[in-house]
Amino acid sequence: MPYTLDEIRAMDQEDPLAHTRSLFDLPEGCYYFCGNSLGAAPVTAQQYLFDAQQQWQSQLIQGWNQGWMDAPKRLGNLLAPLAGASQDEVLVCDNLSLNLYKLLGYITQHQNNSRKVILAEDQGFPSDSYICQSFCQFSGYEFQTFDPESISKSLGSDTATLVISQVDYRTGQLRDMKTITRLVECKGGEVIWDLAHSAGAMPVELNNLGVKYAVGCTYKYLNGGPGSPGFVYVSKVVQNNGWQPLAGWLGHKQPFAFDQEYTPSETISTFRTGTHSPLAYSALEASLKLLQKIDLNDVREKSLNLSRLFLDGIKEICKQHGIEDITPKPEQRGSQVALIHNQHGYAMVQALIARGVICDYREPGLMRFGFAPLYLSYEDSWNAGREVVEMLNNREYERKEFQVRQKVT
Ligand SMILES: Cc1ncc(COP(=O)(O)O)c(C=O)c1O
Repeated sequence: MPYTLDEIRAMDQEDPLAHTRSLFDLPEGCYYFCGNSLGAAPVTAQQYLFDAQQQWQSQLIQGWNQGWMDAPKRLGNLLAPLAGASQDEVLVCDNLSLNLYKLLGYITQHQNNSRKVILAEDQGFPSDSYICQSFCQFSGYEFQTFDPESISKSLGSDTATLVISQVDYRTGQLRDMKTITRLVECKGGEVIWDLAHSAGAMPVELNNLGVKYAVGCTYKYLNGGPGSPGFVYVSKVVQNNGWQPLAGWLGHKQPFAFDQEYTPSETISTFRTGTHSPLAYSALEASLKLLQKIDLNDVREKSLNLSRLFLDGIKEICKQHGIEDITPKPEQRGSQVALIHNQHGYAMVQALIARGVICDYREPGLMRFGFAPLYLSYEDSWNAGREVVEMLNNREYERKEFQVRQKVT
């Protein structure tokens, strides 16, 4: 190992985010590297959930007039500064996949009729691609994929909208938001950014970079809890522009007029569909309140330091065991380390989980280690690296019990 324990502990002592670990409830004895899949529970979430349950119990339907109804917008406004958006540009609602569908319809209704191609990444998160395909099935648009390394090749006068992740869910590759947005818009198309693996993990500058449309989820680095609602961002410049394709009663300008005619809300609220769950919003509110006090530049800096430390500790052993490190270089890295071992990747992850290093596996052969700087210390990263070394040295991944496939990997 290239560092001594004293050196690692000194890093933790100097860490401006050292105090944030105590703001989360984490089980003892595990090193948690799945903050890129499901963030940890803020300590305050318990009280927020309890209060929401109490409000339900004591206030019954009055709860809707005591903050429940406004939660999508209220939480959107808490999330906005974390994504570099202005107030009333973000709505917390439904999930990322549904919000993507809504944006595809919202955008394309006003585009030139000759623009009929929807572009999704060739190796992107499958749900983004499925939603684009499903949109095309029902609208007559044409679905195509593109290689994010050579986007301009796929753009043409028929490009309507391109969907791209700011951080690739597999490799952790960070994309250049400004350049890509300009590139597509110069060709007359629009871009929808998927912020699933960037929101909460680094500063995101939607307004500054001139981004018009984005979607995201809140259960990863935003720590909203399992299945917490997604969000949609629409710049003020392009709001109040007609229907979205999943128009429901709560997206109406006046939902309680119960009008049979649909009139879209003129605000971001037009992206609401039906009734949401105030219980789910309460846990997310706890986390978003906590995040208001965090400087995302500190988060970014620590994330890069953590992943560097981890990689330094395992580089040699990975080579010896034929594990390929596909993690991008630091300036192009999201908040994760990505290793590949085609034959034993799954079993290696299971063997690490048995040692308390909670990481995950994605086909084919991909081992992901997410770094959530708010609750992961330098010592955690260093210790986890030692566990990787021991697990590989003992060839624990060859054990029979680690070959058994679980439903969620
Ligand atoms: C990059 C990316 N896009 C889209 C999704 C789908 O999100 P949801 O299931 O909330 O719709 C995920 C989920 O993990 C994701 O990682």
